[in-house]
Amino acid sequence: MDYLQIEGGKPLSGTIKIGGAKNAALPVIAAALLSDRPVLLSNLPNVVDIRTLLRLLGILGASVEHEGHQAQINAGALQSTRAVYEIVAQMRASILVLGPLLTRFGECEVSLPGGCAIGQRPIDLHLKALEAMGASIEIKGGYVHAVAPSEGLQGAKIIFDKVSVGATENTLMAAALAHGKTEIINAAREPEIVQLCEMLKSGGAKIEGIGTGRITVEGTGGAPLHFKKPISVIPDRIEAGTYLCAGAITHSKITLESVQIEHLQSTIDKLESMGCSFGFPTEESVTIHPPEDRLKEVNIVTAEYPGFPTDMQAQLMAVATLASNESLIEERLFENRFMHVSELNRLGADIWLKGNVAAVRPVEELFGADVMATDLRASSALVLAGLAAKGTTRVRRIYHLDRGYEDLQGKLEQLGAAILRKKER
Ligand code: UD1
Repeated sequence: MDYLQIEGGKPLSGTIKIGGAKNAALPVIAAALLSDRPVLLSNLPNVVDIRTLLRLLGILGASVEHEGHQAQINAGALQSTRAVYEIVAQMRASILVLGPLLTRFGECEVSLPGGCAIGQRPIDLHLKALEAMGASIEIKGGYVHAVAPSEGLQGAKIIFDKVSVGATENTLMAAALAHGKTEIINAAREPEIVQLCEMLKSGGAKIEGIGTGRITVEGTGGAPLHFKKPISVIPDRIEAGTYLCAGAITHSKITLESVQIEHLQSTIDKLESMGCSFGFPTEESVTIHPPEDRLKEVNIVTAEYPGFPTDMQAQLMAVATLASNESLIEERLFENRFMHVSELNRLGADIWLKGNVAAVRPVEELFGADVMATDLRASSALVLAGLAAKGTTRVRRIYHLDRGYEDLQGKLEQLGAAILRKKER
């Protein structure tokens, strides 16, 4: 197994390019199942989660040509509509094939994803929405077995009692080929949802309310979508936010290219409140200018977009460890998303947990140590802390990082970090 070895305390500088968003690319790939013709995708991040979902489509019988940041998927004919446990267990987001498979082929089986390191993560909202559209759903042998009525899924009014990115995506994809109008109330508003809506619209579904909490979809009545233009995945706001945090924690001026600034606003706001300032050399780039003296404390409550993203909570916590006063960080989305706390404390941080609130007490310095990555974003928080810590930090179990950050080590090295990827002996 590989690990990252970081010699901390080195200032960073320079410019890096941000890749396509993993969380936007996953539903875009799943939506290719809604078409019977080749779909061309570009700006895909080259990360494990993307390869995993493409592999699943291949197992289902789609033809998949993937090279670098591009893929061509042809789901004209599938051999199977069963998303097997072996793949879903590797990546929960595989559940995103449920809506497209069911609406296009009338029946499918998808392994239940189960919980994960950050919490239980149920899929009840996904299932309720599909049932409201007429699907019969049975859970048997660890699989969701879904069957659509013989005339296909029917448009319905779906009121989510909780905002869910994944459930909104599955519902949108199912609704795209359904008969009649589907209305989604309390829909997620994340940029990933906007990208998916635009894609479905370009393929022939009629969609209104894009980017709002109330989306209506007029389905094609069973006709597959046809995407005439390639779909280019939007920039990764979480990857970008992570590098902004690298600038803040190491007090380094860093420029990021290929970003969508609007998507970064809540992270920029928090870093600004800590004393950083920002420049925007072009419409698609941002430069962080950290203060010369210590960062100020920050108070964060995670929320749905456009609120502060839970996927940036761990990274901001790493930055807050070196602030001049106590910061409070409340996690509202996932019940167990604080696995990084004890590891950050191993690096000399002083963080106390009470329920879903972390009190991050200021320390003068962090010190290198061996730490263990527990989930994707927690892992990047440990890397950030390692960049600022005195001495050597070794971050183990970095397969979590490989799931969602393309060449993190290479990009940090490009900025001047002393970071090596090594093999465990
Ligand atoms: C997506 C992102 C993930 C991010 C999360 C929240 C992808 C691949 N992953 O995950 O990185 O952290 O959004 O921004 O895009 N819930 C239910 N029932 C359901 C579905 C969700 O109770 O059927 C709950 C979840 O447990 C959680 C909350 O709703 O507490 C939000 O989860 P959701 O938005 O669905 O997250 P994901 O789509 O899984």
